[in-house]
Amino acid sequence: MAMVCLSDFEAYAKKYLPKIAWDFFAAGADDCSTRDENILAYKRIRFRPRMLRDVSVMDIRTKLLGTEISFPVGIAPTGFHQLAWPDGEKSTARAAKAMNTCYIASTYSTCTLEEISAAAPGGLRWFQLYIHRNRAVSQQLVQRAEALGFQGLVLTADLPYTGKRRDDVRNGFRLPPHMKLKNLEGAFEVCKMSPLDPSLTWNDIYWLRSLTHLPIIIKGILTKEDAELAVRHGVQGIIVSNHGGRQLDGGPATIDALVEVVEAVQGRVEVYLDGGIRKGSDVLKAMALGAKCVFIGRPALWGLAYKGEEGLQDVLRILQDEFRLSMALAGCASISDIGPHLVQFSKL
Ligand code: FNR
Repeated sequence: MAMVCLSDFEAYAKKYLPKIAWDFFAAGADDCSTRDENILAYKRIRFRPRMLRDVSVMDIRTKLLGTEISFPVGIAPTGFHQLAWPDGEKSTARAAKAMNTCYIASTYSTCTLEEISAAAPGGLRWFQLYIHRNRAVSQQLVQRAEALGFQGLVLTADLPYTGKRRDDVRNGFRLPPHMKLKNLEGAFEVCKMSPLDPSLTWNDIYWLRSLTHLPIIIKGILTKEDAELAVRHGVQGIIVSNHGGRQLDGGPATIDALVEVVEAVQGRVEVYLDGGIRKGSDVLKAMALGAKCVFIGRPALWGLAYKGEEGLQDVLRILQDEFRLSMALAGCASISDIGPHLVQFSKL
């Protein structure tokens, strides 16, 4: 099967993954209107391409908090990679390193942080934190990640409780017995319990700050008000995200929310986006509207399901090639040529 675009990997994963795993990866909350809107919204944005601008030499490198990556697409944190491929997050780490981009490892990984680090020494990795009701558990995780060389801490802010994902409820989704949330062993075993702390407030960022020297990136911001609060509470980065439409259904597409967040932040911290990125031209639209980098969630899982590390590299390479081509066709030879002049919103 020729894998030409990300939808090819989606079709493969849908066909070959066990239904319960596919449903878990695909799920959005309620009737999935926000999950689907994340993708539809890109169609309402149209390019204003420029011509005759010498695109014979292209430079698509960028920097994430000072560290260079080869192109502006990283891997968003998603749980349970062993559901997609036996080596799980170890394969993800290797693929990200091979492509010289950033991998955000989830609290809900099925490999330990130590295994992930050892699989791809020196790769750029951030650790995504869900704060546990027992703060000692989270403190220990943060300190382990820092000691292992993770270079950023991503605090997910949009999951005080887990959204209602209908297929998971119908399937009675839980991890197969041979897979474990290895970083939380002992802290809790059964996914159905809610071990996460729903009492979190902005003040908890100060608590987190006291534990670590790592930059803190807050994930799940969708409004200018929260963007302002994030900056005031001293974070170094914001990921505009709605958790792939898996939390509050009915919220905006992330590409639409990006505009007000970027406007509020005024360059004081880096702003990234995830949700609905399926083509290189989606990456270009997000960059034009002010994202410094984007992250992919489900497409990374489809790549793993296809061929593990190799499959994920294929997904990243396709996005990289499509992004470079879109830039060139829009008249941009380097990232600094990308700006809001490049896009317009259509009434579609
Ligand atoms: C997620 N996401 C997520 N986010 C997070 O902060 N911690 C996590 O453990 C998970 N787990 C997770 C599992 C699965 C199966 C999915 C699909 C998503 C959300 C993820 O980081 C990201 O926000 C979305 O996946 C981005 O949307 P796309 O790229 O999947 O459209």
